[in-house]
Amino acid sequence: MSAPDITPGSGSGRSGGASPDQAGAPAALRIGIAGIGMSVPAKVLTNADLEKMVDTSDEWITTRTGIKERRVAEPGTATSELAYPAALEALAQARMDPAELDLIIVGTTTPDMLFPSTACVLQQRLGAKSAACFDLSAACSGSVFAIITAQQFLQTRRFRNALVIGAEVLSSFIDWTDRSTCVLFGDGAGACVLKPVSSGGILATDMGCDGAQGELLYMPGGGSKFPPSHDSIDRRLHFLQMNGADLFKVAVRRMADSAVRVVAGAGLSVEHVECFIPHQANIRIIEAVAKYAGMPMEKVYMNLQRYGNTSAASNLIGLYEAVKEGRVSSGDHVVLVAFGAGLTWGSILLQWQPEAAA
Ligand code: ACO
Repeated sequence: MSAPDITPGSGSGRSGGASPDQAGAPAALRIGIAGIGMSVPAKVLTNADLEKMVDTSDEWITTRTGIKERRVAEPGTATSELAYPAALEALAQARMDPAELDLIIVGTTTPDMLFPSTACVLQQRLGAKSAACFDLSAACSGSVFAIITAQQFLQTRRFRNALVIGAEVLSSFIDWTDRSTCVLFGDGAGACVLKPVSSGGILATDMGCDGAQGELLYMPGGGSKFPPSHDSIDRRLHFLQMNGADLFKVAVRRMADSAVRVVAGAGLSVEHVECFIPHQANIRIIEAVAKYAGMPMEKVYMNLQRYGNTSAASNLIGLYEAVKEGRVSSGDHVVLVAFGAGLTWGSILLQWQPEAAA
């Protein structure tokens, strides 16, 4: 269903409600996606493979999560190695040379190393000498938070363009003996180039966090609190730890509320949305979010059956494949909604524009 025309940039909001442009203020610049890319490792790890590693079954994984297989990087693969081909593809679609880039933001929880940032590593590899670069830590909300952050720099005209990446090699931080987590995640990268656009683009955004629930999903070791030591390794602090049942409930509520808020923030309703691309964690979470947000499942895009939960890469890989498969066409309204450790959640409502990736 097509929607009425919308004032550029209006409805950009924050969690708790939209905040339209102030009366009399100049309309904000519209920012849109000019190119998109993705990359996943070649190695496929199926549920049948996992049956040989831990006490699980294809039936349990499929019915509880919807996941059938995931991609896993070879040991020693750095996140920037997955980000690089995704970035090149997005830049090629945007017809941009890396040297033209003003800003690179990498959303990741699994950076190559604590420092320098993966964005700086990528800058060097791309030859993007003019770009300011930093990583953004918002776990599975990484690409949504990074797109919203880049949008602010472009709307203020501080930078002319930005490369945004969501990339993870989560397999490095998974306890492959823990059946309750190892079946859920996969590795991958999604990338997009953001630029001012004359029509379409990002119409509204929403972000929120709840640090009080941080221990529902966390990796305690490796930072300043628990630096690597024999003790931290013995206590398995360098692996992802999760309270899945509690996360499930919070994820549904936060994602549904955020999706409804972002659509309302642009003065639209869910009937105007042609494609809904939620964070790809679990089919049951997605079905519940769609139900509470009033979004019919025919409009919901899912590829978690092939990739599992790729954390910060998830929404961009979803958008990339939805476009490639013809689920998103020029003029369509698309909602990306994310949820992750932090806790963090966020949404973007964008209108896919003709000059963007086809
Ligand atoms: N294979 C077989 N049995 C398993 C497995 C497995 N891989 N993993 C756990 N179990 C067992 C548990 O040991 C437990 O057994 P017990 O009852 O004897 O103690 C039982 O299965 C738990 O079963 P359920 O309660 O039915 O599991 P549930 O329906 O809650 O599903 C799941 C578990 C899939 C983890 C779910 O809670 C979930 O998806 N939560 C969200 C987690 C998530 O997506 N995290 C990612 C980051 S946050 C985000 O991205 C949204």
